[in-house]
Amino acid sequence: RGSPALRVTEWSDIVDWWPRLGAASEKYTRGVVGVATGSATYPGAAVLSVGGALAGPTGLVRYAGSARAEVVHQHPSVIATDRVADAGRVQAWVCGSGLGTGEEAAGELRAVLAAPVPVVLDADALTLLVDGSLADRLRKRDAPIVVTPHDREFTRLCGEMPGADRVSAALRLAAWMNAVVLLKGDRTVVGTPNGRAYVNPTGTPALATGGTGDVLAGLLGSLLAAGLPADRAAVAAAYLHGLAGREAARGGPVTAPDVAVALRPVLSRLP
Ligand code: APR
Ligand code: MG
Repeated sequence: RGSPALRVTEWSDIVDWWPRLGAASEKYTRGVVGVATGSATYPGAAVLSVGGALAGPTGLVRYAGSARAEVVHQHPSVIATDRVADAGRVQAWVCGSGLGTGEEAAGELRAVLAAPVPVVLDADALTLLVDGSLADRLRKRDAPIVVTPHDREFTRLCGEMPGADRVSAALRLAAWMNAVVLLKGDRTVVGTPNGRAYVNPTGTPALATGGTGDVLAGLLGSLLAAGLPADRAAVAAAYLHGLAGREAARGGPVTAPDVAVALRPVLSRLP
């Protein structure tokens, strides 16, 4: 509060940070994002996270996982494989939403963490971190990590609830994990390992519907793959996701696919 290390995000921040599409842009130079989400049980999480990734500034989305038929059916521009190991090169990975928490899911998460690129860890990937002995691996990792817990996921990771001071909570987890923490909820905040914090002002209760978090994770992965530093990517993703929730709510009750669709008009307002 008032401290220079705490900032409320503004539209002009996003404008400053946004990657511009030059005339000579090419799909690979715009960045390739890999999405390892969903499962036979939760194919929708894959479709939604890929939808968020496709709305972002990257030129190509690769999907790896058990929901490839559904993903390609919904999003024909995606290149899909069954496994992370077979996906080819990407500049960032998104992992976890609807992935499951069994052996196969853990193997895919390990493959994602072994890649020398920024990663977004959401939902089941966070559960696997708590249950497995993967936390050490995170602290030793060179490439950035962004974790996107909601309050219950935060509580499982941290062993205590975020409480009223969400900024301190996010900063605590960020320092412990050496990761950027995007703590979701009606007061979404981002904390970085070096002690900077950002409050997101665009949230709306219209987002309180299943699957909107998956869209956020996909968008965030696209921003990382497009080359934004992890802290800016997290802050921008939360801000734009909130605006998309508001945009979607203009059309009536919101479902998660509406939020992915609404990202397009929101992003089109960026100069
Ligand atoms: N105000 C502003 N933003 C909100 C609000 C609110 N009142 N409620 C939720 N949001 C935003 C969060 O900030 C986050 O971006 O909506 C998104 C919800 O994401 P998640 O909590 O990850 O929920 P999601 O994964 O989409 O839901 C799918 O997964 O973990 C389970 O129990 C969860 O059934 C749910 C399912
Ligand atoms: Mg979620």
